[in-house]
Amino acid sequence: MSSSGDVVHCKKRKRKQEKHYWSPLIAKYWKQRYSLFSLYDKGIAMDEVGWFSVTPESIAQIQARRVLGRCEESSNLVVIDCFAGVGGNAIQFAKTCDRVIAIEIDPVRVEHARNNARVYGVEDKIEFVVGDFFTLAPFLKGDVLFLSPPWGGPSYSKIESFTLDLLKPKDGYSLFQVAQSITPNIIMFLPRNVDVNEVEQLSWLSSPPLNMDIEKNYVGKFFKGITVYFGSLAKIYKAKKKKKKKKKKKEYKTLQAKIEKETEFGGE
Ligand SMILES: C[S@@+](CC[C@H](N)C(=O)[O-])C[C@H]1O[C@@H](n2cnc3c(N)ncnc32)[C@H](O)[C@@H]1O
Repeated sequence: MSSSGDVVHCKKRKRKQEKHYWSPLIAKYWKQRYSLFSLYDKGIAMDEVGWFSVTPESIAQIQARRVLGRCEESSNLVVIDCFAGVGGNAIQFAKTCDRVIAIEIDPVRVEHARNNARVYGVEDKIEFVVGDFFTLAPFLKGDVLFLSPPWGGPSYSKIESFTLDLLKPKDGYSLFQVAQSITPNIIMFLPRNVDVNEVEQLSWLSSPPLNMDIEKNYVGKFFKGITVYFGSLAKIYKAKKKKKKKKKKKEYKTLQAKIEKETEFGGE
């Protein structure tokens, strides 16, 4: 056999070995590896939980883009990723903003996140903290809080209506209340089957109620999750635009009526 034939053989065997290294549960996610991390082949590190819980890269980019305007306004802006996992979101926030704090309770996953940030060239923009978000919360200061708490594993998708009490390690209401004590500018990444009525109630936990908007997130044609933006990150300009359009229409109508009246009196 030619040497090039041997190389092909080795490559095939290597790929097979990597596949076998992961459990059957992970095989499905491994096939999606480039949609999770486009630089997967450059040395991305994962563990089992990381595989099924990392935010797909294109969604993390959309979520980070929402913060872009705020980061351009202030170079000192701090984004806190409270449940950082293997770094899918923290990396995209660091590509957009200069200062990110990434909190994760599992020390091994923090090391994976640090490694992955290095792969993406943003390690120096992220401060990694091993710890429990709820314990650290009273000491945290940040301008934007990103919450992607555990959804309880892949079985979440079997539930018809995912209520906020199913979020881990604490229910969504308690989590939101703690988050709000730090900043009203909150982003929450939730399952696609989440009870939207409950999500809307979150904005009422604050007085006056927080602005909010809900975004559906897809990867290709697959509906992956829902992102909720609160506070100054919510897209309220849509409502403002509508109001402006209505005002302009009214002005136009008044002007038209005035012209008609003038033509009526002064016409030939
Ligand atoms: C859905 S994953 C986050 C995935 C992350 N957004 C990413 O793209 O890689 C949730 C993470 O929260 C971590 N976690 C669970 N309880 C925590 C807590 N009390 N404080 C901080 N992290 C916690 C889990 O270990 C898990 O890695």
